Amino acid sequence: MSSPGTDRSGIEAEAPIVLSAESVTRSYPLADRRRLDVLRGIDLEVREGEMVSVMGMSGVGKSTLLNILGLLDTATAGEVTYHLPGGPVRARELDEAERAEIRNEHLGFVFQFYHLLPDVSVLDNVLLPAMIRRSSARYRRERRTLTERARHLLGLVGLDDRRRQRPGTLSGGERQRVAIARALMNEPRILLCDEPTGNLDVRTSEAMHSLFDTLNREERITFLFVTHDPSLARRAGTRKVMVDGRFEAVSLEEALARNSRGEELETAELKTAEPETAEGARDPDLERGEGAATP
Ligand SMILES: Nc1ncnc2c1ncn2[C@@H]1O[C@H](COP(=O)(O)OP(=O)(O)OP(=O)(O)O)[C@@H](O)[C@H]1O
Ligand SMILES: [Mg+2]
Repeated sequence: MSSPGTDRSGIEAEAPIVLSAESVTRSYPLADRRRLDVLRGIDLEVREGEMVSVMGMSGVGKSTLLNILGLLDTATAGEVTYHLPGGPVRARELDEAERAEIRNEHLGFVFQFYHLLPDVSVLDNVLLPAMIRRSSARYRRERRTLTERARHLLGLVGLDDRRRQRPGTLSGGERQRVAIARALMNEPRILLCDEPTGNLDVRTSEAMHSLFDTLNREERITFLFVTHDPSLARRAGTRKVMVDGRFEAVSLEEALARNSRGEELETAELKTAEPETAEGARDPDLERGEGAATP
């Protein structure tokens, strides 16, 4: 059975759920006791081996959602649950160290803006998750094998020959691919990707799509990616469309058609909400939606 906002195909219905979100909201407090309600009730179930894409206009809350699912941010209300081999774990009940451990052990994250360390080489950036997971003695002992893996991953994204460079000397698309290699370093079960091909030309982007397909098919890595790229979204067995902080029950094709006609998805606007006690006037800038980035 499909939940609202889902266009789902190609995943065994009986695969176990690995990640779920229930009525997740996220509001940001603004000045003058107002707040911006970004996520307004997100429900999501991701099954093992599933490939899920999330599309939606700029500023709708896609990165906000991914950060919450990736335990980098906390929902204002609602529940995020990871179903790990040891049993279900609720995000809300974790302390910072436990959140970091789950991120490091089970998740890979490709950030929208990469977040590579500028002062170390590309190779060391890719090795970083492995370094964090180990004591320094163990890391030193295993360094040779880990370096081989990091170089293999850099090879998969076509950048092994750039491994000694600093990220600052690479193009945006090359940095994005380093971020993909780094996300794979610890063999994550779930990969959360925020516009992983947003900076790539059609051909390189196709190569990354094929890499994701292979990882999904052969290693059963579960993917959840935010994308503006219709050809990547189409590869996902499950396609979500976010409108006004919720998943909307439209198919991807319908969403793309509307978007290209400049209808509905473009006009869905973030709204400000005043706490009941606030008596002041609304901020006209925010009412016009200028608090949100424009595409
Ligand atoms: N710390 C914050 N304080 C206030 N508002 C924030 C904060 N972080 C994000 N927002 C707002 O929340 C909204 C959603 O942001 P988000 O980054 O999730 O959008 P997005 O869907 O990923 O957009 P894009 O496609 O442009 O990346 C935006 O209007 C943004 O300005
Ligand atoms: Mg974003």
